[in-house]
Amino acid sequence: MDTDIKNNLIGKLTEKSALVAVIGIGYVGLPLAVTFAEAGFRVIGIDPDQRKVAAVNRGESYILDITNEQLAPLVKNGLVTATSDFSAVKDAQAVSICVPTPLRKTGDPDLSFIVSATESIAPYLHTGMVVVLESSTYPGTTRELVLPRLSEASHLTVGKDFFLAFSPERVDPGRKDFTTYNTPKVIGGITPACSEVANVFYSMALAKVVPVTSAEVAEMAKLLENTFRMINIGLVNEMAMMCDRLGVDVWEVIDAAATKPFGFMKFTPGPGLGGHCIPIDPLYLSWKLRSLNYTARFIELASEINTQMPRFVVGKVQDGLNSFKKPLKDSRILILGVAYKPDIDDMRESPALDVIHLLKGKGADVVYHDPFVPSITHDEWSLKCVPDLMAEVKNVDAVVIITNHKTYDYMAILAASKLIIDTRNALGAAGRDNPKVVRL
Ligand SMILES: NC(=O)c1ccc[n+]([C@@H]2O[C@H](COP(=O)([O-])OP(=O)(O)OC[C@H]3O[C@@H](n4cnc5c(N)ncnc54)[C@H](O)[C@@H]3O)[C@@H](O)[C@H]2O)c1
Repeated sequence: MDTDIKNNLIGKLTEKSALVAVIGIGYVGLPLAVTFAEAGFRVIGIDPDQRKVAAVNRGESYILDITNEQLAPLVKNGLVTATSDFSAVKDAQAVSICVPTPLRKTGDPDLSFIVSATESIAPYLHTGMVVVLESSTYPGTTRELVLPRLSEASHLTVGKDFFLAFSPERVDPGRKDFTTYNTPKVIGGITPACSEVANVFYSMALAKVVPVTSAEVAEMAKLLENTFRMINIGLVNEMAMMCDRLGVDVWEVIDAAATKPFGFMKFTPGPGLGGHCIPIDPLYLSWKLRSLNYTARFIELASEINTQMPRFVVGKVQDGLNSFKKPLKDSRILILGVAYKPDIDDMRESPALDVIHLLKGKGADVVYHDPFVPSITHDEWSLKCVPDLMAEVKNVDAVVIITNHKTYDYMAILAASKLIIDTRNALGAAGRDNPKVVRL
């Protein structure tokens, strides 16, 4: 009986006897695996990256948000294991797919990881199983890409034999107040039965689930969130460029506007967008819409403004050096902070890479410091973090603050430097009207 399959699975999820497989144990998958294990589920992480698999099996975390103290006991108690062997899926009743969704060099979505992960689990799909896609992607992916690969390989019927849903990951790396556990989880199934099962699955481990009526609504909700951020950052970046022309302090303008207790949300300008989500996910949406003969104008405009920011920053470096009668060529420039946002080690899509590349292209001698990033590699160059920060601050012609990590003593850096380009207002009031500080 169809309902027996569903009810049996719900029973296993409710009593937490279901084995959970997390496909892709990176920034999203590892915290999710830990969250399910902390709730009492046995979890197996499946990832082709053997270094990650070995680290997990040793109880060692490679993700800043998960400590060894958190992971090791779960591994020791057999609640978390990892493997590169997808046949482990045959023993699982619940699967969450957390694989990357980057862009190709052409700017089009690269769905190859979702396709390959789906094809790897398909041979092991069995009756009484729930599969949830978590990777950020365009609306329709779960139904158009994942569903046919699972049902054709297994000859099983969705909503009867197995259950398929989409639930976007919303984790904000480095954040302590909202984690995988207590960030509300939107979930939408391919069928109502899929929604029901997936909601039970996630509600057994997470503080709050938010059911929606379809996988497409869940997919689109994630894109609305990230598009909202991307467009607002684009707007405030354009504000920074307009204030620059007007000779008005954009930071003071933003702080003043933010005193309005309603109808305004504060965003701050910076050297460009970074990370795996905000610069990328909205382009999945605009790509999909192009295939429907619709141009997502807000997304394209914000993307254009945001990608101009590294160039704007380089202009500011040139202006600063100019006031000291120095050319950019052969000047030594220290980039302070290269991760895409404060207090994390993630370099993906970081604007620091573009700023460094542009500076190098103009003949500058570029070095960098970041407490979280020991080395960085670009297609054409690689750099190692300078060993002695303060010696370098004194030595260089200009310091460019790209990422405002909390660990830096900005006042000491200000005192010791000749010139600072502050793209984050890290110096606050001390940078205002200061002849050796150029602000965005
Ligand atoms: N990092 C974030 O802050 C964040 C936040 C929200 C949503 N997301 C989304 O979550 C998804 C995963 O992102 P992430 O940051 O965890 O990426 P990640 O690169 O840190 O981790 C992905 C993992 O998947 C593994 N993988 C690659 N191909 C695989 C395959 N075929 N089968 C199994 N595993 C495979 C990789 O080895 C890697 O360990 C993306 O769609 C991303 O947009 C990320």
